[in-house]
Amino acid sequence: MSNSLRAVRGMNDILPADSGLWGHFEATVRDWLRGYGYQEMRTPILEHTGLFKRAIGEVTDIVEKEMYTFVDDLNGESLTLRPEGTASCVRAVIEHNLLYDGGKRLWYTGPMFRHERPQKGRYRQFHQVGVEALGYATPDMDVELLLMTARLWKQLGLADSIRLEINSLGGAEARAAHRQKLIAYFQAHQAELDADAQRRLLTNPLRILDTKNPAMQALVDAAPSLMDELDDAARQHFDAVCQGLTDAGIAYRINPRLVRGLDYYNYTVFEWVTDKLGAQGTVCAGGRYDGLVAQLGGKPAPACGFAMGIERLLVMMAEAGLAPATPSPDVYLVNVGEAAGRYALQVAEALRDAGFIVLRHGGGGSFKSQMKKADASGAAWAVIVGDDEAAVGEVSFKPMRVEVAQQRLPLAQAIALMKEI
Ligand code: HAM
Repeated sequence: MSNSLRAVRGMNDILPADSGLWGHFEATVRDWLRGYGYQEMRTPILEHTGLFKRAIGEVTDIVEKEMYTFVDDLNGESLTLRPEGTASCVRAVIEHNLLYDGGKRLWYTGPMFRHERPQKGRYRQFHQVGVEALGYATPDMDVELLLMTARLWKQLGLADSIRLEINSLGGAEARAAHRQKLIAYFQAHQAELDADAQRRLLTNPLRILDTKNPAMQALVDAAPSLMDELDDAARQHFDAVCQGLTDAGIAYRINPRLVRGLDYYNYTVFEWVTDKLGAQGTVCAGGRYDGLVAQLGGKPAPACGFAMGIERLLVMMAEAGLAPATPSPDVYLVNVGEAAGRYALQVAEALRDAGFIVLRHGGGGSFKSQMKKADASGAAWAVIVGDDEAAVGEVSFKPMRVEVAQQRLPLAQAIALMKEI
């Protein structure tokens, strides 16, 4: 196959062998969200580029180099494939005035797009489940978000391999004061900065703290801490979140260097991380973004939320052997002969009416080869029709997993008997 006809690099097909695990995950997530009163939101995959620039921040990796942006030839508008869901969700909330009668708990799922270097756990099209609680200012909501994620890890069987890191970014004033101190500190150590840090020094010095460069670890470890700048309100909010986690028995680590790659956060930020995925260890991340609704033109409203990377969680589940077995059909419908082929379609529908899951053999083939397929399908029953059965409205049927002789009966009687057994 020529390269130009293959899937785009970093964008994956989800094949039948994997879709069972996806379905299991999605069903678990839907139940879990219902348990917390969250309502689903679906927004377009394309948005105006300006939305993401404004929400995520001009000087972030996502906006500077990872967005799939193009000009719509028809009207010259700049559009972008969404790199995340919070901006779109908040846009829709404002556009449809969803906060008119108080806070809203919303969730979404779907593909997101970032032009990153693909590797295990990092893709250019990936999928998130995102959760946003809008209109709630108090720390109990931050705690509820963390309790609910902890519950999901349990439900998915991953609780032992995911741990929580949290931090507070304080309010705007604390960040401004910290920013000045950081710039001064890094300027005093300019020779030790790598190219990335040099570039960020005056634009986004907070992100230097997030560096993965081993040569800069000592430098960032000794950098001024944002924690020291928190005012009383921010400190109390953070203490209340920590207390809520302790009350609920959820272990956490305060990581003063946790800063996040999107600019909209204030106060609480957190990441759920694992050691099972190599470099791409963050499976879920989020925090408060109390300024974003107003920044995008809405009436000011506090908010917090998170998003998890579905592929990363599924890799963990598959590697831990937590993928559900592919369900087998109840009946494999063997049909040999032309009249039998037509009759088999009716038999299959009648069996489905009776509640059986039926895999009808398609495409002809000998009786022997069809019986082999019936066996391989894992079906509990083989229902067999030839032209003889078709002529008189009967079927032969045989349990595949126990030693019981094949029987031949009129269709309705066969169904009644199969339902009894
Ligand atoms: P984020 O940290 O950019 O936050 O992404 C959330 C999660 O999406 C990550 O922790 C990771 O599991 C997954 N993810 C991100 N990029 C990729 C990728 N290239 N390949 C695979 N998985 C990836 C947000 O997107 C915020 N909107 C979260 C949020 C919601 N904050 C408040 N509300």
